[in-house]
Amino acid sequence: MIIELLKKRCSVRNFANEEIPYDIIKEIIEAGRLSPSGGNEQPWRFGVIRDKELINKIADLAYNQSWIKSAPLLIVLCTVIVGDDRGGRDIQKRRFPRFNEEIEEMDKALYSYLNLEEHQTKIPGTHMVISAIENGIYSTWISYFDVERVSRLLGLPSNHVAAEIIAFGYPEVEVRIRAKKEMEDLVFYNYY
Ligand SMILES: Cc1cc2nc3c(=O)[nH]c(=O)nc-3n(C[C@H](O)[C@H](O)[C@H](O)COP(=O)(O)O)c2cc1C
Repeated sequence: MIIELLKKRCSVRNFANEEIPYDIIKEIIEAGRLSPSGGNEQPWRFGVIRDKELINKIADLAYNQSWIKSAPLLIVLCTVIVGDDRGGRDIQKRRFPRFNEEIEEMDKALYSYLNLEEHQTKIPGTHMVISAIENGIYSTWISYFDVERVSRLLGLPSNHVAAEIIAFGYPEVEVRIRAKKEMEDLVFYNYY
């Protein structure tokens, strides 16, 4: 049951020195590939990083998060910038009618950058994290890194951005499940 997997999930930042077999990595990626996306655009690429030297370089671009170096696998979730011509600006104007004029006038390059479909990469990432747990592999999301330098390091094309990184591995020590807010503190029914 998926709820049982979700209850097992927690962030792990201390990984055992053990490689993840490639067939498990493939399953994790497959879980991401099956994600939904706006207009089924699938505006993402998944960078599978197992090279220790490259993992270390990425960790160095993540503001002293040296724990990342213990991970045997990083998956870099890259966003593909969807061009203005795909109608994104009109969608944003309808979502935020109050800013119609500003959105219309915004410089194209800046608009494209701000209109990153970055939030969408959270969906395949979430699929991957849950799929990994099924095989005893834990993970931690990483947003706190220099996006532009990591994108350059990986040689991404100019319309791609390294939006998120997830570190995967087997836990070195016993995992710790963190408390979550109670349901009644999170949910409202009909009106707030
Ligand atoms: C989008 C996102 C970005 C995150 N970025 C970082 C990060 O840069 N470094 C880090 O150590 N943890 C990061 N985390 C992990 C959170 O700190 C962690 O999920 C949170 O404390 C809850 O703990 P849990 O995952 O064990 O439930 C991130 C989590 C999410 C969802």
